[in-house]
Amino acid sequence: MLKNKHVTIVQDNNIHDRSFIDLVKRDHAIKLVDAKSLSIDDFKDSLLVIAQVKLTDPEAIRPLRHKMSMLEENHVPVLFLLDDFNRREIVQANILGATDYVPYPCDEKYFIELVAKLVNIVVEQAWSKLSKTQESALKVSLKVVEKTFANAAAGLEISQDEVKDSCNLIIEATAKDGLTDWMNAIRQHHNYTYRHSMMVCGYLTSFGMLLGVQKTDLQTLAVGGLLHDIGKSITPLEILDKPSVLSPEEWDIMKEHALDSGNILENNQWPAEMVDIATHHHEKLDGSGYPHGLKGAKVSDLARMAAIADIFSGLIDKRSYKPAMSPERAIEIMLSLSDELDIPLVKAFRAVALTGPTKKILC
Ligand SMILES: [Fe+2]
Ligand SMILES: [Fe+2]
Repeated sequence: MLKNKHVTIVQDNNIHDRSFIDLVKRDHAIKLVDAKSLSIDDFKDSLLVIAQVKLTDPEAIRPLRHKMSMLEENHVPVLFLLDDFNRREIVQANILGATDYVPYPCDEKYFIELVAKLVNIVVEQAWSKLSKTQESALKVSLKVVEKTFANAAAGLEISQDEVKDSCNLIIEATAKDGLTDWMNAIRQHHNYTYRHSMMVCGYLTSFGMLLGVQKTDLQTLAVGGLLHDIGKSITPLEILDKPSVLSPEEWDIMKEHALDSGNILENNQWPAEMVDIATHHHEKLDGSGYPHGLKGAKVSDLARMAAIADIFSGLIDKRSYKPAMSPERAIEIMLSLSDELDIPLVKAFRAVALTGPTKKILC
């Protein structure tokens, strides 16, 4: 399993520029480790190890020698940050098993891209577990999500055919091969909004299968899940990607995405059921949700299901300001929200969330 992974940062006591830590935290959980007290266990669940130690100091690198070789054996990439980028540092980094090295400080954008590239080595390992059907569904739908969000941000038309076709691939892959490997691969994607959209789509598809809904309704759930947060394409990035908890004012702006999601789909003449999912996935049965504060029976079944998949996906996913929660704990919390969520539906969803259905259904 590749979930709950982090970037391990190995440091010594010498003076270095540490500003890269905030850059890494934008997309990944991190674990800080002192080079002197390094143990093999510190590398457990590492997506990537970034080492920032004085490579010209034999005392600083001695604790690393044996332990770094374990990383190579376990296919964990290692990035060395070099203070001076001189020949001696480069030789030492290579001896210690560097996958790559970079002088630091360096250009921020270059550094972020380099980390993403190295993390992708691990992502590709997760992808290698997918069946051919799952892999092509994931590749196509990720491209479609990226393009759709970019088009929505630019105020361009959103192609219904492309999104529906990619959702049909997801439905086919989930029906054939189940949800587990697919979710593990999605969870490695570095962009939270895309990752979350794909997760909600996957859970809603599986939820629909479990409930035995018709194929057209399944497509509504899959598309609704994929695009439920399309309104976030116009949320200011400094709020959307803020690496810490939002202030009340920022939270008010963030909440606008639900209405924006519905409006974007409505303006592109999407079916009313998909607009409903997009607009109302944050409504709560007691009327305390947004954007319309709908109460009880006014919250449709589709919106109730979307709220469940949305909350669950958010809870079990990591953010820079919170660790990932176990699926069991997430369901426990959701079952306690009896004023807000449709509890019989949460109980049904539990089967999707905790086992991932492989039910072969429909069509
Ligand atoms: Fe949302
Ligand atoms: Fe969401």
